[in-house]
Amino acid sequence: MNSFRFQNPTALYYGKGQIEEYLAAEVTKFGKTVLLVYGGGSIQRNGLYDKVMGILRRAGVTVHELPGVEPNPRLTTVYKGIDICRNEGVDLILAVGGGSVIDCSKAIAMGTKYDGDVWEIYERRGTATGALPLGTILTLAATGSEMNSGGVITNWETKEKLGGGSPYTFPAFSFCDPENTYTVPKDQTVYGICDMLAHSFEHYFHPTEHTPLQQHLIEAVISTIVENAKFAVDHPDDYNARETMMYCSTMALNGMINMGVQGDWACHAMEHELSAIYDIPHGGGLAILFPHWMDYVMNTNPERFANLATRVFHVDSAGKSVEELAKMAIEKVREFYASIGAPQRLADYDIGRENLERMAEQAVRFRPIGNFKTLEKDDVLKILQSSL
Ligand code: NZQ
Ligand code: ZN
Repeated sequence: MNSFRFQNPTALYYGKGQIEEYLAAEVTKFGKTVLLVYGGGSIQRNGLYDKVMGILRRAGVTVHELPGVEPNPRLTTVYKGIDICRNEGVDLILAVGGGSVIDCSKAIAMGTKYDGDVWEIYERRGTATGALPLGTILTLAATGSEMNSGGVITNWETKEKLGGGSPYTFPAFSFCDPENTYTVPKDQTVYGICDMLAHSFEHYFHPTEHTPLQQHLIEAVISTIVENAKFAVDHPDDYNARETMMYCSTMALNGMINMGVQGDWACHAMEHELSAIYDIPHGGGLAILFPHWMDYVMNTNPERFANLATRVFHVDSAGKSVEELAKMAIEKVREFYASIGAPQRLADYDIGRENLERMAEQAVRFRPIGNFKTLEKDDVLKILQSSL
């Protein structure tokens, strides 16, 4: 494995009743002026907004609000949040929502302390110099943003969606109560599952040698997702199912299962181009791209795919070559996506050939993408074409 330093400072509160018991104490550690960041109204409809506001008021906290964070959060919304934090002397940002709300809050936290345009950090032209403290209340199991330092922001004017982060943007605390995900609609539940599975795949397909424990840890997360996803999609009010999905999503991208491993991340880079132009859900784009990427890169290391077939999908290896097993693994991945109703082709989002060239060009604008197999522009174009 590669040498690594691991440090994750997020205090994680998992399960029922934790918000009522510990939120006030966590928030007031940082001061009495809070920016509450949330999305397009789901937390008002399901009662979480009233619950959180009640706790904050009783704790004597002054609350400023930034509502309306978009799925695929936009830079313009980040700027609004930075203005509020600077003008109101905000001590802590409290993000209540899914990955978009949390990512937007991370950008606001960095931008408030950055002497320049926060977009420079995402464009790799600047480095974060600090951040306001950030806490989260997660409402959608998907990104792992509740326990990592990254975030993805869309500049709608330039049609760019870029990831960025810093050691300062780990949430100080995150409350993950599965009950807060009961109201997530079926399609968003599916996208979330596709995203957590994608994070596990990004780790699993890597070029680093001698990583037996990492492989098994990642396989454990993939297996748990595959075994429980369908039930979770069909039973939105099942606490155990929601809890299992939530824990999978946190573990898939909090750095714990992939230490010393250089993940691939080409599919994420390609998906961000799709979302930047077509504003599609991140998890939906990933479900479309992954099987086609797998077909394209399989020969780089067929054994890795064969392991996926036998260890995760329990394919009987007797009498089968490594290549046959590898192909069966990709078929099983396709079947899994179909079983939970995930999109399968770009056409499902009415995406045609019109921007493929541009997206391929943009995907490699900083450098070739992918570490399991390095992809240049032409490779990306072929994968996008096969996904039509
Ligand atoms: O805006 P509201 O009204 O809250 O509705 C949201 C939104 O429409 C809704 N929702 C969330 N919780 C709900 C709920 N509806 C009912 N009940 C609830 N409890 O779901 C919709 C989607 O929310 P969003 O936050 O966009 O979803 P997700 O958590 O999947 O986040 C996606 C974003 O995260 C980025 C993606 O690129 C995308 O921009 N990612 C962030 C990562 C990270 N920070 O580590 C890594 C990922 O790879 C990903 O790129
Ligand atoms: Zn993702």
